[in-house]
Amino acid sequence: MLRRNGTPLIRVSFLLAAILVCCLASAASLHAQTSKLTAEQRADALLKQMTVEEKIGQLNQAAGYVLGGAPPPEEQVRRGLAGSVLWVSEPAAINKLQKIAVEESRLHVPLLIGLDVIHGYHTIFPPPLAMSATWDPKLVERVQTIAAREARAAGINWSFAPMVDIARDARWGRMVEGAGEDPYLGAIMAKAQVLGFQGPELGTPEHVLACVKHFAAYGAADGGRDYDSSYVPDDLMWNVYFPPFKAAIDAGVGSLMSAYMDLNDVPATGNYWLLHDVLRDDWKFQGFVVSDAMAIGSLVTHGYARDREDAAYLAFHAGVNMDMASYSYLNELPKLVKAGRVTESEIDALVRPLLVAKYKLGLFENAYIDLSKIDSVMTDPASVTAAREAAQKSMVLLKNDGALLPLDKTGKKFGSIAVIGPVADSGPAQVGFWGGMITNGENVVTVIEGIKTKVGPSVRVQYAKGPSIRRQETSKFEGLPRIKLRDEKAQSAAESQSAFDEAVATAKRNDAIVLVLGEGVLMAGEAASNATLRLAGRQQELLEAVVAIGKPVVLVLINGRPLNISWAAEHVPAILEAWEPGNQGGNAVADILFGDANPGGKLTVTWPRSAGQEPLYYAHNLTFEPESAPGFKSRYQDMKTSPLYPFGYGLSYTSFALANLKLDTATAKVGDSVGVSVEVQNTGSVAGDEVVQVYVHQQSGSASRPVRQLKGFEKVTLAPGEKKTLHFALGKDELTYWSPSEKKWVLEPAVYDVWAGEDSTAKLHASFELTQ
Ligand code: NOJ
Repeated sequence: MLRRNGTPLIRVSFLLAAILVCCLASAASLHAQTSKLTAEQRADALLKQMTVEEKIGQLNQAAGYVLGGAPPPEEQVRRGLAGSVLWVSEPAAINKLQKIAVEESRLHVPLLIGLDVIHGYHTIFPPPLAMSATWDPKLVERVQTIAAREARAAGINWSFAPMVDIARDARWGRMVEGAGEDPYLGAIMAKAQVLGFQGPELGTPEHVLACVKHFAAYGAADGGRDYDSSYVPDDLMWNVYFPPFKAAIDAGVGSLMSAYMDLNDVPATGNYWLLHDVLRDDWKFQGFVVSDAMAIGSLVTHGYARDREDAAYLAFHAGVNMDMASYSYLNELPKLVKAGRVTESEIDALVRPLLVAKYKLGLFENAYIDLSKIDSVMTDPASVTAAREAAQKSMVLLKNDGALLPLDKTGKKFGSIAVIGPVADSGPAQVGFWGGMITNGENVVTVIEGIKTKVGPSVRVQYAKGPSIRRQETSKFEGLPRIKLRDEKAQSAAESQSAFDEAVATAKRNDAIVLVLGEGVLMAGEAASNATLRLAGRQQELLEAVVAIGKPVVLVLINGRPLNISWAAEHVPAILEAWEPGNQGGNAVADILFGDANPGGKLTVTWPRSAGQEPLYYAHNLTFEPESAPGFKSRYQDMKTSPLYPFGYGLSYTSFALANLKLDTATAKVGDSVGVSVEVQNTGSVAGDEVVQVYVHQQSGSASRPVRQLKGFEKVTLAPGEKKTLHFALGKDELTYWSPSEKKWVLEPAVYDVWAGEDSTAKLHASFELTQ
């Protein structure tokens, strides 16, 4: 028998085994004994057992692959050096990582597994911008509930969503990930998404931890350029950019992500005011903060931190609990502890909420997923139905001259239809950037497929793609191993020309044309900002050539942001904004084009005529010589200032009339609520959805107030001829604002205008006065 130091090996092994059993037993009994305690008490008990190194490990979020000179993720997890792993989406791989954490790390602490489940995991729904166009928070909650269920079944217990950045500039590629330009609507959608992801409370079965992001004002990046600095005055922070975050926190969101950019020259990820004064002191946020990916390391790039050690120090003291993949905490915090710049009790304070989240999520009881159950969750027919409904309801009918839509599916009116365009048969374009990260657009019903299924043999359908579209500048995400999506291949001039000619010829051969134009998968989303909003590639040329044929043309847009369609708005009779409509998008487009669904979506972003108008939003101030002043037509000499389509706009196959806007009082005391009622009637011949919107303007006060602000809405479904009276209240919550001259929240005596209507140009008007 071999010996080591004179001890028989068999005895050593026995001893080791005994120690291991003992450790496992004591860990198991620790977890079992503590399961009667609250998550907070259990976290405290666990903290007492952890070494400083293990605590720092909990603050580190490892990339799911080898990155930046750090040890492989498995090794980090085994050594207790990672509290979370991100960018792993395969269930078996996730189980393997959890097994290492639970069975091989010293204290058996399970992992938070984070992923960008922004609008679906297996079933891809329309993205948040499109979902906000439903103006239906219940539906938004329902689809995120499905997204959470699928993600959790696959082992993901933390979604980096909702993204609630207010976006007022369509050049910014990430506009697609949020709920648009308006803080009131944004707050409602933020709450709905948090409830969808987390359920009524963190730890609800089949749900995940949500992460509201990117704190804050990322959407205000200069020139719409992704990652560029934001300069936002305090009153806009409080009145516009913060409200959706506050709503998410009030809804119980468990985590928050800091933003990449500088906010007023202080990087958001090292910003004490944001992460401490506002988030913890003022809002009493109890969850934890994760940095955006590599953002702590990048504090050096910003010229804010001297070096990585300084970066770790600044982010740590600002209140960032977890370092996403920059490994600054892992590498630098031990030095800072040694130098006495960071204390162990400060580390405890940042680790604690992370452990609390893990306890609440039930990960200590079971970190694994049952691989045999995944399929039944992913193939739930209810998810397919929800995806189709969500896509239908998110689409916005922008134009429908001569009631060209809905098209006749019996073939009597048009015996043949040409479906033309680079995104008419594109799964990746339909699932968009985040959908494409996880799914690569397989399992998608494309527009051409949806139309063919809808009309069956009654109408001949011919498809031609036309020239393909791709980004002009290569995406930094192209080719990354974790990312499944790829951009289209470049075409030679000859290939492009022959595709163009074929598309025009196909259009000529048919009675009507459905042109499907827009953006490819990497053209919207992160690192996908635009200097122009023009249709990419040769799409404008194709559009003009097809319209010139003189046949009826319907334009369907598949995209993540308003594009410059000013020419189309003049020359194409029918335009449907379908966004990135997800897995069931093709069916939903066909449902709408052929009248099986009546469009009811309304824009949640102002649609510009040209990129040069951006940022463009309805809630601007009046200022000197407003456009409504006599003789003033436009603030530009070369173009109207007004948008192509206003915020809140969207048509239907029926028509609605609003009447009898009434206030329950003409004067009230500051602090009292004023009741508003208005009648809405379906005056057309089919059932339809209408979103009645209420806007307010404060006529005078300690600051100039926006010309209009959305302060109430209700979506109703009305049968032909049906009429309803809707009621709204304008009280403290709706009328209080943060005043830049008072530097505090105020509710002021003033005259207030009220409008009710079908979009932000609502005409019905009334007013009331608040007195002291
Ligand atoms: C960077 C993005 O800004 C953020 O939204 C995302 O959650 C992380 N990467 C993780 O993928």
